[in-house]
Amino acid sequence: MAISSFLSFFFLLICLKLSHTQSVPAAYMFGDSLIDVGNNNYFTTIIKANFPYNGHDYPGGKPTGRFSNGKNTADFLAEKLGIPTPPPYLASKNSQFPQGVSFASGGAGIFNGTNDDLLSKAIHLSQQVQFFSIVQQNLVKQLELDGAMKQLSKSIFVVVIGSNDMINYFKSDSKLPKTKTPQQFVDEMVSTLQGQLKHLHGLGARKFVITAIGSVGCIPLLRYQSANKSNECFQQANFWANKYNQQLQSMLQDLKADQLKDINYSLMDTYNLLFDVIQNPATYGFSEVKAACCGLGRLRATVPCTPVALFCINRSSHVFWDRYHPTEAANRIIINTTFDGTNKYVLPLNVKQLIAL
Ligand SMILES: *[C@@H]1O[C@H](CO)[C@@H](O)[C@H](O)[C@H]1NC(C)=O
Ligand SMILES: *[C@@H]1O[C@H](CO)[C@@H](O)[C@H](O)[C@H]1NC(C)=O
Ligand SMILES: *[C@@H]1O[C@H](CO)[C@@H](O)[C@H](O)[C@H]1NC(C)=O
Ligand SMILES: *[C@@H]1O[C@H](CO)[C@@H](O)[C@H](O)[C@H]1NC(C)=O
Ligand SMILES: *[C@@H]1O[C@H](CO)[C@@H](O)[C@H](O)[C@H]1NC(C)=O
Repeated sequence: MAISSFLSFFFLLICLKLSHTQSVPAAYMFGDSLIDVGNNNYFTTIIKANFPYNGHDYPGGKPTGRFSNGKNTADFLAEKLGIPTPPPYLASKNSQFPQGVSFASGGAGIFNGTNDDLLSKAIHLSQQVQFFSIVQQNLVKQLELDGAMKQLSKSIFVVVIGSNDMINYFKSDSKLPKTKTPQQFVDEMVSTLQGQLKHLHGLGARKFVITAIGSVGCIPLLRYQSANKSNECFQQANFWANKYNQQLQSMLQDLKADQLKDINYSLMDTYNLLFDVIQNPATYGFSEVKAACCGLGRLRATVPCTPVALFCINRSSHVFWDRYHPTEAANRIIINTTFDGTNKYVLPLNVKQLIAL
């Protein structure tokens, strides 16, 4: 009697522990440098971050391939989910990835053509989805089809993509405006992304966390390119990022209403969140919203963040780490606000509600 009640107490403890820690079986991450945790360390490209001063504030103080002074949104989201940060796929292609894996790659776009020249290479979204299909096949072998589908339907699929396509269109030396209007470009971004989401759904994905494009016109690089060196946000890039975000929102609504009725999703409005941070820095603990922390020249945006650059003493007072990317402090706020926040910045469900389904 004593032993059996001891055993059932013990059993209860194990159940409690499991239900506490296993909120999601796994997270699969797709996207660009905002969530890359090191995939670009494994192929030839100039789009890399595995050198100082990146990682200066990361545990151990060493560069890992994250485009930040410390952790990025992949790390903070994984922390909230109670799982280790999904490892870079290219670090160990043949592993089983029991709690998920990251396909995210710095420079990646919705389009294959974004960052695809002699020096700048990235794993673009379509290739990331192809890599996932290999991981999915292995999971099916391991768990049988039903088991794999059940597990995938509870897993989280994070998609952080689109900023590079937008920046590529609006950067000063871009040839794209000659071939496509911004509206055509945005339409194609949304429809191409939709195709990839359907592909993921076909492979078993049911719960998506998707980010809008941030206010890219306000990154130090595009402020730097402003007319008359005024350092203002580049309004045209923000206008079209906003337009893309609106179309993304209706595309997702339509997808759920019509073709993919069994999905649920969180759409993170990083545009309005970052814009609010930039308008009201003190509320969020920042004092510098224009200049990068690491780099050289005006807005520390003339020369990128490399070992020959300078970096600011107080990283947590800056929104931007380098001329493209947020600091760890800004990344923490993005996840903290959208994980269990109101529909001001995440809708129709926040991530906590999404994983509880
Ligand atoms: C993009 O690249 C993937 C593989 O890397 C390829 O399968 C796909 O056909 C390409 N898409 C276009 C539109 O070129
Ligand atoms: C930049 O300079 C031009 C002419 O020098 C002027 O017409 C324009 O209004 C200025 N723009 C800003 C943003 O100050
Ligand atoms: C999630 O999606 C299912 C299937 O469409 C739907 O029945 C359910 O209401 C959704 N959950 C929430 C909280 O929106
Ligand atoms: C660094 O910046 C943060 C946020 O702006 C501020 O709270 C803190 O006091 C600053 N630390 C130093 C040493 O200046
Ligand atoms: C996280 O967000 C909550 C409100 O959503 C806020 O009260 C709290 O201070 C935030 N924490 C950090 C570390 O930003």
